[in-house]
Amino acid sequence: MNFIRFSDLCASGQVAGKRVFIRADLNVPQDDSGAITEDTRIRASVPCIEMALKAGAAVMVTSHLGRPTEGDFKPEDSLAPVAARMGELMGRNIPVVANWVDGVSVAPGQLVLLENCRVNKGEKKNNEELAKKMAALCDIFVHDAFGTAHRAEASTYGIAQFAPIACAGPLLAAEMDAISKALLAPKRPLVAIVAGSKVSTKLTILKSLAANVDQLIVGGGIANTFMLAAGLKIGKSLAEPDLLAEATAVIEAMKARGAAVPIPTDVVTAKTFAADAPATIKAATDVADDDLILDIGPQTAQALATQLKAAGTIVWNGPVGVFEFAAFENGTKVIAQAIAESSAFSIAGGGDTLAAIAKYGIEKQVGYISTGGGAFLEVLEGKTLPAFEVLSRRFAG
Ligand code: 3PG
Repeated sequence: MNFIRFSDLCASGQVAGKRVFIRADLNVPQDDSGAITEDTRIRASVPCIEMALKAGAAVMVTSHLGRPTEGDFKPEDSLAPVAARMGELMGRNIPVVANWVDGVSVAPGQLVLLENCRVNKGEKKNNEELAKKMAALCDIFVHDAFGTAHRAEASTYGIAQFAPIACAGPLLAAEMDAISKALLAPKRPLVAIVAGSKVSTKLTILKSLAANVDQLIVGGGIANTFMLAAGLKIGKSLAEPDLLAEATAVIEAMKARGAAVPIPTDVVTAKTFAADAPATIKAATDVADDDLILDIGPQTAQALATQLKAAGTIVWNGPVGVFEFAAFENGTKVIAQAIAESSAFSIAGGGDTLAAIAKYGIEKQVGYISTGGGAFLEVLEGKTLPAFEVLSRRFAG
């Protein structure tokens, strides 16, 4: 997919003295006091901002934070804590500008953070008048908010239609490059891990990947439904028996292509869902009626690790067991280590997956860690995200 890259505009001297409007995704988790508990998205947004400043631009940055009510700004909606954290990272004071839609005063070399864009009336519904006003604030619009690339809102989509130039920032471009490498032209075998509690929430992803990947490793409650489809008993484990036909269809679609959905041969069970529940390793054929499957067994984990180490490309979304509980973390830990040791290009995304990557300290060994939650899932579903659709249209003319 072709789009204008902000880095190219900077390199060719087209940014000096220009007004640059960057849409970042600075939607970070906060505790009850408003303190930021995880700042990955802020750190990931800094390179684009530095790039713009270095190129001599007057820089405006905005983002949404949470899901505020439009037209009803509350103190907790403010990007002030984000500005403070970003200021620490960049070593400068970053003013926050409120009520900015009708005009922003910013000079070349300066950086301002425009207050939470989702408090502007018409943002969510991509109101054309609002989008045109935002576009009029700048010479160059830079979309660098991969986490919000699946939304068509005024500050992500409408502005890209009307700004004189609309381009992709380095984070958005890097995400797209990594996704293309993993899904469009993957080095094979391509192995995907899709785990989570419900088949229903990831059915579109499973179906889309079933047409492309060589191995589709399922985990968590999703694996339980696939075990049922394979004729195994799962006791009282979480599953969706009404989706057996869908799970079977995925298995058959994979088989027809000479690909496979590996079904666990052993599991770790407990009688209750608790951190201190005694864990029992048993064959997948021996699950009792009152058992809960909370992890894959060591034999299954080793078999999957072998496949992951031999993979050319790995896509990872979701831990395969209840990795938050020590007794049921082995499967996820073994898989994380196998991904770390594999020479495959790996891409990972999703909140729980990022937590597992952090827990096992493999950040540096994963090829690309996506900043997208919902956006990453929509990419796995095979959708073209609005951000890429509009930027490629603007590239074309
Ligand atoms: C996210 O946290 O996934 C993004 O920032 C998008 O947020 P949203 O789901 O509120 O649009």
